[in-house]
Amino acid sequence: MKYINIANGPQQVSAIIQGCMRMPALSKEGAAKVIRTAFDCGINFFDHATCYGESGAAETRFCEAFPLTGLKREDIVIQSKCGLCFDRNEFDWTKENILSSVDDSLRRLGVEYLDTLLLHRPDLLFDPEEVAEAFNLLEQAGKVRFFGVSNLMPMQIELLKKYVKQPLVINQVQLSLEQSQLIDQPLYMNNKTTDFSISRDGSALDYCRLHDITVQAWSPLQIGMFGGTFIDNPDFPELNKALGEIAEREHASKAAVAIAWILRHPAKMQAIIGTMNPAHIKDICAAGDVTISHHDWYALYLASGKFLP
Ligand SMILES: NC(=O)c1ccc[n+]([C@@H]2O[C@H](COP(=O)([O-])OP(=O)(O)OC[C@H]3O[C@@H](n4cnc5c(N)ncnc54)[C@H](OP(=O)(O)O)[C@@H]3O)[C@@H](O)[C@H]2O)c1
Repeated sequence: MKYINIANGPQQVSAIIQGCMRMPALSKEGAAKVIRTAFDCGINFFDHATCYGESGAAETRFCEAFPLTGLKREDIVIQSKCGLCFDRNEFDWTKENILSSVDDSLRRLGVEYLDTLLLHRPDLLFDPEEVAEAFNLLEQAGKVRFFGVSNLMPMQIELLKKYVKQPLVINQVQLSLEQSQLIDQPLYMNNKTTDFSISRDGSALDYCRLHDITVQAWSPLQIGMFGGTFIDNPDFPELNKALGEIAEREHASKAAVAIAWILRHPAKMQAIIGTMNPAHIKDICAAGDVTISHHDWYALYLASGKFLP
């Protein structure tokens, strides 16, 4: 496993994060197996959100399962996110909602503090001064150690930074070989013959690198948002061929190679995996031992359907 230090944030965290969005589907014992397998493979970082499962069911299942793992709270980094309120059909970054969401997460997870709290997707009505007040209260009460955001454009982060005094240390965004818009646009800069040249995120990756914000790549194996995985998917023959060739050479799985492709990027990103299958977790965690050369990286990128301008 590779480990990174998050600037102004938690240190020595695994480059692969275990996402818990799909955990409500598991029994308590199944969830314990996922947590323990991930930890034994070197993962010390677990990602939650208030909206994962009905009434925060992912956090509840994690809490029920954790005592069965033999692990201690301090062994792991627990991250949660707030602000997505599917039950109310709105996004909500009001002070009141941020504070009550954190209290709910702490109660469901059975812990006294979150290592990191991210604001999930932007509330279009967000008031940065209110967010700042909420963060101050959470920090003073010892309920949250570090703060960050998810799916946020650079100018929105700048707006938050005008009022929020804590460093924003993480931006969690979508990135996979199939959904690579985070890195596509600069390659096709100013090219009117392709939609790849359209800036969809205000150069979020470069912005995060310039401001020491660690990028966490969500859904690293998915097609679109929740379209299933491209691994072994017959609709992606060239990509699977390229993944398969490197996988064979590296004695690893295709999924591990797809994750290693993200970790190879010099931005030192983390990849958040979502599998609930312990065998897949073991496979993927071999990504740290996969060598992706400069040429391999481009070969995979091109095999995913891009071209050199
Ligand atoms: N910030 C945001 O807006 C946002 C949005 C979405 C997700 N997330 C975070 O990102 C995490 C990961 O998302 P995700 O679950 O979509 O990620 P993913 O790792 O891209 O996809 C996991 C899914 O792919 C399946 N899969 C099929 N073949 C696989 C293989 N060979 N290896 C591994 N998985 C395989 C898994 O099934 P099996 O379980 O059967 O292996 C699982 O259903 C979530 O848990 C959540 O923490 C964040």
